Amino acid sequence: RPTQSSRSRHIVITAGPTREALDPVRYLSNHSSGKMGYALAGAAARTGARVSLISGPVNLPTPAGVERIDVDSAAQMHSAAQRLAQGADIFIGCAAVVDFRVEMPAEHKIKKRQNEDSLTLILVKNPDIIADIAALPTASRPLVVGFAAETQDVEHYARDKLARKGLDMIVANDVSQAGGVFGSDDNAAWLLWKTPDGQASEALPSQPKTRLASDIIQRALNLLAFGETP
Ligand code: C5P
Repeated sequence: RPTQSSRSRHIVITAGPTREALDPVRYLSNHSSGKMGYALAGAAARTGARVSLISGPVNLPTPAGVERIDVDSAAQMHSAAQRLAQGADIFIGCAAVVDFRVEMPAEHKIKKRQNEDSLTLILVKNPDIIADIAALPTASRPLVVGFAAETQDVEHYARDKLARKGLDMIVANDVSQAGGVFGSDDNAAWLLWKTPDGQASEALPSQPKTRLASDIIQRALNLLAFGETP
């Protein structure tokens, strides 16, 4: 089957962690390095696509030919995604979005109080960025690819996430393996995608994130062009 050129395709990718402010100097976050999302952006740009990379705070250089939009919080990532993904060809949610934000971040630095040994924070759920993109009306909805990092029952949770979030494809990986995945340069993955009559899957072996990224972009472009990927 011919490989469709992605010239003139617009691919939007979220990457890295988000930061949820407690006060002007503190935040809640996670250990996401952004490496997988940045590798995807680089691989997408090398196919000739226009690439918008919505990035949380990470220490990585912007891949060549990629337009990078820096954000901090999940709310900022959500609005950048809404703005850029409408009418795009492919949306890939690779960011490790923090699930909860502080309901009322303090305007000034939170002070320790002499007689209080505990501090109560009220957290509220952040919007599900990828589910909101997947729910866009057909005319402006891109093909939507998500990630599922799991420590057990990878296949079960991936199938559930694909259906529940309304995704077209999901990249699942087992983050319980020795060495870990966060911050690592290598990654194995299991792809699951929607077909006209159900679901299909493919296992991709452990390989450098840059090579894995090219495979994922190619499968997503195939799914977009042919409604299937070989
Ligand atoms: O539900 P969970 O966080 O495991 O789902 C992971 C997938 O959903 C990833 O593609 C991630 O980028 C996306 N996600 C999102 N917004 C959230 C939470 C997750 O886009 N608030």
